[in-house]
Parts: sequence; structure tokens; C-alpha cells
Amino acid sequence: MYRTHNCGELRIDAVNKEILLSGWVQKIRNLGGMTFIDLRDRYGITQLVIDQNSKPELSEQARKLGREFVIKVKGTVAERSNKNKELTTGEIEIVVSNIEILSKSEVPPFTIEDETDGGEELRMKYRYLDLRRKPLQKGLMLRHLMAQLVRRFLSDKGFLEIETPFLIRSTPEGARDFVVPSRMSAGKFYALPQSPQVFKQLLMISGYDKYFQLTKCFRDEDFRSDRQPEFTQIDCEMSFIEREDILTTFEGLAKYLFKEVKNIDFKDNFPRITYDNAMEKYGNDRPDIRFEMLINNVTEIVKGKDFKVFDDAEYIGALCVKGQSEFTRKQLDELTEFVKRPQIGAMGMVYAKYNTDGTIKSSVDKFYNQDELMKWAQATGAQAGDLILVLSGAKSKTLAALSELRHEMGNRLGLRDNKVFAPLWVIDFPLFEKDEETGQLHAMHHPFTAPKIGEEHLLDTKPENIKANAYDLVINGSEIGGGSIRIHDTEMQQKMFKALGFTDEEAENQFGFLMSAFKYGAPPHGGIAFGFDRWTAMFNGSDSIRDVMAFPKNNAGKDIMIDAPAEIDNKQLKDLFLSVNK
Ligand code: AMO
Repeated sequence: MYRTHNCGELRIDAVNKEILLSGWVQKIRNLGGMTFIDLRDRYGITQLVIDQNSKPELSEQARKLGREFVIKVKGTVAERSNKNKELTTGEIEIVVSNIEILSKSEVPPFTIEDETDGGEELRMKYRYLDLRRKPLQKGLMLRHLMAQLVRRFLSDKGFLEIETPFLIRSTPEGARDFVVPSRMSAGKFYALPQSPQVFKQLLMISGYDKYFQLTKCFRDEDFRSDRQPEFTQIDCEMSFIEREDILTTFEGLAKYLFKEVKNIDFKDNFPRITYDNAMEKYGNDRPDIRFEMLINNVTEIVKGKDFKVFDDAEYIGALCVKGQSEFTRKQLDELTEFVKRPQIGAMGMVYAKYNTDGTIKSSVDKFYNQDELMKWAQATGAQAGDLILVLSGAKSKTLAALSELRHEMGNRLGLRDNKVFAPLWVIDFPLFEKDEETGQLHAMHHPFTAPKIGEEHLLDTKPENIKANAYDLVINGSEIGGGSIRIHDTEMQQKMFKALGFTDEEAENQFGFLMSAFKYGAPPHGGIAFGFDRWTAMFNGSDSIRDVMAFPKNNAGKDIMIDAPAEIDNKQLKDLFLSVNK
């Protein structure tokens, strides 16, 4: 027997009990004639004590232990004279009568404490040690809880969890596929699913009208803190529903998770905003609505005063920053540098301070008098004491830059608190986006998304104008989930493929199975998928989804612990009919 209790369990009521504990040595301290050991497992830390005077041999043995040794101790629970309120076990300690070393440890490459001295790469290499630390344990425990809650909520609503395969052929979700060569079919490849999209639609055709799955998805795309090449979705699909049914059902799931995990009640419906509105007012399609500071289109108001930068611009947009007219020259210069960074790409920034004395001071006073600046104030809703920031240029680029500037101001002013949550639905996305260079249309969501009801007829004539029957759940500026009502008849799906530039043969080749399934009674259906890692990271207060994944990849897509990806030997290559051309 290794333990009667875990290291986070014993309390004052256990005093005088004989117990066994097993765990890792966190720390050893020798004070006078006493040796104190902090014994750790994932439940907590318990203090062990050995008195040199009464147990000299045991004391000698204890002094030889090192950090991260795995030991089993026998002892008696005693009340501590010096209580530690930080620990759940802080009222007691164990007077040790026997120590057995179960496993020795080399000195770990970084300290295994909440605040560690190890750099990111080192910790990734020894991820199994990093996972012993509390912040990571907390992330994985939250992940477990969220998974249980999702399963409970959806099961109670009659959803069935059904697994779909990983070895499939390409699914068009917009990223590159990871591929797996086939040994049995020379020269052929499986693709790993970017999502279970087509399978969940086939399940609808099979009659499983409420499906969900917590499943891995694989996408060979560039890294960000909220992206990994393999990640987990809460993937869902329903039949005989309309958009409203999906939004209501999954808003219910979101509210349930908010309540159970964060103890936050959302009484009202989540706000909804159209894609067009989100782009105009926030400069992106995943607005952070924790704070206002909306974008105002001032193009018409500011043009025509011989200020060439504005006169030549396609679009001019302004933010009104409440109560910040006292922003210093230095701060404004920093902001100008910020928007001029290559990744943001603005040429410069114009400002106007609406002083508390009622005058307005701008960086373009040469071109605009007080009356004209007052019009800026009216257009942006600025009042005395406010600051107006203006960017100009090509419309889409300027809106994107304004969005970045808005976030930067939100950060600087502490308006983006990660303990505050502001969910919303973004609806009415365009069905297509156009490749600027080739003019080719691409599906904004994926090619199975249905046009918005009433706009289907435009598919033949003006596809680029059609809105999709698609929706995203956005929380605090992060896209947590997205989905759509699907096309469920062959003819419409064929039109869609045509608009996307597929020839009939290409469509038949790639999606013949789906088109033929549509011919055997396809119910109207739709669904959604949530980024499970993203959602958990957000609830965990983490900036990166890595914090809630046991074994994530690093920024270069590598697992440096197991050294993957790796070469394979010639025999394996030969079996797979492959040769490597580097
Ligand atoms: P979509 O591609 O929008 O939709 O993905 C759904 C959600 O998955 C999360 N996500 C990611 N999380 C981590 N790393 C990534 N690389 C990554 N990519 C996406 C996001 C996103 O909102 N089949 C459709 C869903 C549907 O139509 O039902 C799909 O996969 O949070």
C-alpha cells in the first residue's frame, strides 16, 4: 500500500492518525535539529517533520533526499504550532516514522513551483515536469471540468456523441491538410480532418438528428497564440432546425458553462451584430464589446480642406476616447509609432484633443479651424475632455488598423479585463470572399454553408453579394465558435461548387459521395463547432491555448520533447512508396 491519503487531504481532525503518504519532494529545509520536507502530489502539499534528536537515523536519511525524489512515508498526523494559511493542509504536519525512496530524481532543469525560472523552450522539452506545476494542473483540471459539463449539457438535450474517422480525404476548411501516406494503396494518401464537417452532415442524412463530438482537428496553418496544428472542437450538428434553434441551443450551452465554471449569470440574450456592422464599427468580425470606443466614419466630414492625406484617402475613420484629452505628446507619438508598425500599416495618425476649456487642439490645425474640428467632435460624439484619433487610407486596411488602435487604447486604459466576459453572435457573414489577385471566389466559412434565406437566387447572378446563413460566437474579441445552416440539396450544392470555380468533374471527384447522399433524403440541417482549447483558455485567464493542452506544439509546429516531426527510416519510406526530395 502506498498511501492512505493524498497530499492535499489531511486536516486538523486527523490529528494522531497513523497515515501513509506518497509523493514528490518539493523542498527540504533543515532548521536547528529539525528537517522539514514539503511532499507534493497533484492534490496539494503536506509538511513532513523529522526530529534529529529522537530519530537520528531517519534524519540522516531525510537529509540525503533531493528535490523531486518520489518517496513513501509513514507517520502520525500532528497539529502544527506554526500554521500556514496558504496551504489547505497548513494546520497539520506529519511526524515521520519511516521513509522509503520509491524513485530517485536528478536535479530538475527548472524549479517546479508556481513561478518557475525555466524558459518556455526548456519547459516544453521537459513538459512532463512542467505539468507538475500548479498553473498547468489548474488548466488541465478546468479542461476536464469543461468537457464533463459540455457532455452533460448536450446529452441531457438528447445529443448523441458519435466518433468520426481521422483517416479521411481532404475537407475544405481553408487550411492545408496534414496527409498520411497509405501502405496498402501505393501512391495514395489519407488526409487528417480539418474538422468532421462532411461526416456530421452525413450523420444528419443517416437520421442522427442531434450529434456532438469533442474531437481533434488538424490544420497545417501558421501559428498564433490561439492556434495549434491539432486542436479540439466541440463539434455539433442538428436536423430539422433553423438558425434560431441553433443560436438558442448553443447560447444555452454557453450560459450553462458561464454559470457552472465562472458563476456568471447571463440573464439577457447575447447581443447580435451583423458582419457588416461589426466591420464598420469595430474594424473586424470578432468585436471586443467589453468597451465602446466605436469607429466613426468621418470621410465626408473631413475631406475638402486641402489636407492632401485626407483628400486622397478612400476612407477616414475616427475613434473617440472618452476623458483622455490630457494624453501627452509622448503618448500620442507612441500611438503613432504603434499604428505605423508594418503589421498594422497605417501611414500616420491625426489627433484632436477636445480640451476641458472647450477649445479643440489638433495635429492638423493648419487645415482645420475650430468650427471644422467641432464637426469632428459631433461626428464622433466627443465632448469636452475627450480625445479623437483619426486614421485614413484604403478602407479595409484602415478599418483593420483602427481595430488594432482601439484594442491598444483598450489595453492602455484597462478596459479589456480578462475577468469580464462579453459574448455576442456575429451573423450575416458574406457567403464568399474574393481573392484580390485572381478575382476567384472562396467560401468564407466552407462550401456547404447555405445562403441567407431569400438570397439563394443571387447564386447564379451576383454571388459576391450574397450573405451566408452563418454565425460566429465571439467572446472578448476571440472567435470561440462558428457554424452555419447547410445546403441540403444537390442542385444548390452544385451551384455553390460552380461559383467556387470547381468544374463538374472536380466537384464529383471530391464530393461525389455527399452529392449522392443528398439524393437519398437529406433533412434540412445546420450546426456549429467551438474551439474547445480557446474556450478553456479564456475561462482559465490564459493568453495561450497551450496552457490548457497537455502536450502542445511549439511555435514552429514541433514537439521538442519527443522531437517530432522526425525523419523515418528507408524501410518505412519504401513500404510507403515514398522518396524524400529535400
Ligand atoms: P471553424 O473553422 O470556424 O469551423 O472552426 C471552429 C472553431 O474552432 C476553433 N479553431 C481553432 N482552435 C485552435 N487552433 C486552430 N488552429 C483552430 N482553428 C479553428 C475556433 C473556431 O471558431 N466545420 C466548421 C464548423 C461548422 O460549420 O459547424 C469549422 O470547423 O474557435
